[in-house]
Amino acid sequence: MLTTEQMARYQQDGFLALPDFKGPSEIAALRARAQQLVDAFVPPSSKPLFTTKDQVRTVDRYFLDSATRSSCFFEEEAFDAQGQLKQAKALSINKIGHAMHDLDPVFDAFSRGPALDALAHDLGLEQPQLWQSMLIFKQPGIGGEVGWHQDATFFDSTPISVTTFWFALEDATLENGCLWVQQGGHRGPLRERFVRQGDRVTMEKLDATPWPDSRSALPLEVKAGTLLVFHGLLPHYSAANRSDRSRLAYTLHVTDGRTAYAPSNWIQRGADLPVRGFAC
Ligand code: FE2
Repeated sequence: MLTTEQMARYQQDGFLALPDFKGPSEIAALRARAQQLVDAFVPPSSKPLFTTKDQVRTVDRYFLDSATRSSCFFEEEAFDAQGQLKQAKALSINKIGHAMHDLDPVFDAFSRGPALDALAHDLGLEQPQLWQSMLIFKQPGIGGEVGWHQDATFFDSTPISVTTFWFALEDATLENGCLWVQQGGHRGPLRERFVRQGDRVTMEKLDATPWPDSRSALPLEVKAGTLLVFHGLLPHYSAANRSDRSRLAYTLHVTDGRTAYAPSNWIQRGADLPVRGFAC
């Protein structure tokens, strides 16, 4: 799947872009299914927001239950001062998460197959385990910023093995909020750990290493169909989307079953919905 040169670049940089990994028809099918999920979504009385500004504060039953569901979350800026949506529901959703890859046949088909399985093995994931899927809308005008973080914060294991598969479903540009990364930053420490105890979560500070400053951030502008893979320790962020175009992306978070998945991670799976790999 990967060339020796690509594998070396991944080790060096902590990320790799694979253009044209998904074709237009696969993307269209996933988008259409996502739209159906949004159309069917009836918001609960307490509007579920997603923001990374204070993730511990916004954790509630709806969020915790989404570990094994296909749940919609609103953009933080979707509502006016009276708590009413400022625009249509379909233009107000921040993301759908976090188990569509195991619950929905269209998402399942997009998330698995021989090419992804081969890629995972080339990246060192001998026993890939798909813990989470997210369909991220990054809506025009109100798409929220996601500040510097490392995905291993949410998927701890010993040793750390989580790898992010980030599929661009639309062109990601500077204007609509593409990803920014610290090239090679995966060789640094894990700074924070998101720990769940029952229905409570806390953010544990592990290391005082500061987040990179903006001068050392590299923007990853990619075309629709590109798959970005990156190491769980790679610091990354994305800016708010103030453009008139969305920046749709789909992500999978995958660990290696040979590593010990932390029992304190917020997503756990039981026998009713066991964690699976990339094989169909
Ligand atoms: Fe992330």
